[in-house]
Amino acid sequence: MKDLFGLKGEVSVVTGALGKLGPIWIETLLETGAPVFALDHPKARISEDFKKLQTQYDKSSLLLAFADVRERQALEAAYQQCRDTFGVPSVLVNNAGIDQPPGQLDKGYLLEDIPFLENREVFEVNTLGLFLVTQVFGSQMVKAGRGSIINIGSLYASVSPDSRFYDHIASDPPFLKPPAYGASKAAVVNLTKYLATLWAPHGVRVNALSPGGVLGTQDDEFKSKFCERVPLGRMAEASDLRGPLLFLASQASSYVTGVELVVDGGFTAW
Ligand SMILES: NC(=O)c1ccc[n+]([C@@H]2O[C@H](COP(=O)([O-])OP(=O)(O)OC[C@H]3O[C@@H](n4cnc5c(N)ncnc54)[C@H](O)[C@@H]3O)[C@@H](O)[C@H]2O)c1
Repeated sequence: MKDLFGLKGEVSVVTGALGKLGPIWIETLLETGAPVFALDHPKARISEDFKKLQTQYDKSSLLLAFADVRERQALEAAYQQCRDTFGVPSVLVNNAGIDQPPGQLDKGYLLEDIPFLENREVFEVNTLGLFLVTQVFGSQMVKAGRGSIINIGSLYASVSPDSRFYDHIASDPPFLKPPAYGASKAAVVNLTKYLATLWAPHGVRVNALSPGGVLGTQDDEFKSKFCERVPLGRMAEASDLRGPLLFLASQASSYVTGVELVVDGGFTAW
């Protein structure tokens, strides 16, 4: 079983490395023996969770580099650095993404007032940026004839956010979850199927992993409303995400490609 789930020596790339979920994916990969090339935006700050990993793993197994996922030249330079340091990657976790949780806005929006540029940025990072990273890193995996690409989606790729989760937030107009977020993630799921079929003959599998709401700094009322809506009765924790990632990254899923693995505690079953 160790061989089935092990990733010893499998060079792995994780985008959005410095956010909330990045360190969870990275720690999982490192623990199973994969060297990790971690990528984030040049302006991103090194998080405490990531610093902790840097104290546990030295540069021979964990390297941090910076590139905006929307900039091809920067991604190509990052690819060279990854190849020169660790070799051609065989695992790519496309995790970088943007959302707009409550609290990041001074006030809500009316749908008709959402600025075009804000919508565009969500698609640029979540969908087009993911595509660009895949063009640069994934195409090299194709040349090498092996690999597993995991695109991080969301439960909002399949369902619309429930506005009642946010109706306790004092805001006029009311808080509005950005419509572009779910749409950009639905596009990621479709892109996953496209790439899976295109690259299957070249030995590269492409799947999506769509987490439900992950426990974090959400307010208590949100958490309570959200958990009530989840058949398993709680939000996802880091430990819920590790197994699904490992499954998709490793040979345990050798006959799985083009699927969306939804890890949402049953949220979308109702
Ligand atoms: N946290 C959740 O509850 C949850 C649930 C479902 C899906 N997701 C998805 O999981 C992924 C990670 O989420 P998270 O909660 O860690 O988010 P986060 O905001 O904590 O981290 C996202 C990371 O992406 C990086 N990033 C943003 N724009 C970038 C760009 N242009 N170029 C390079 N890097 C960029 C940020 O710097 C950040 O480090 C996202 O794709 C998100 O949509 C998260």
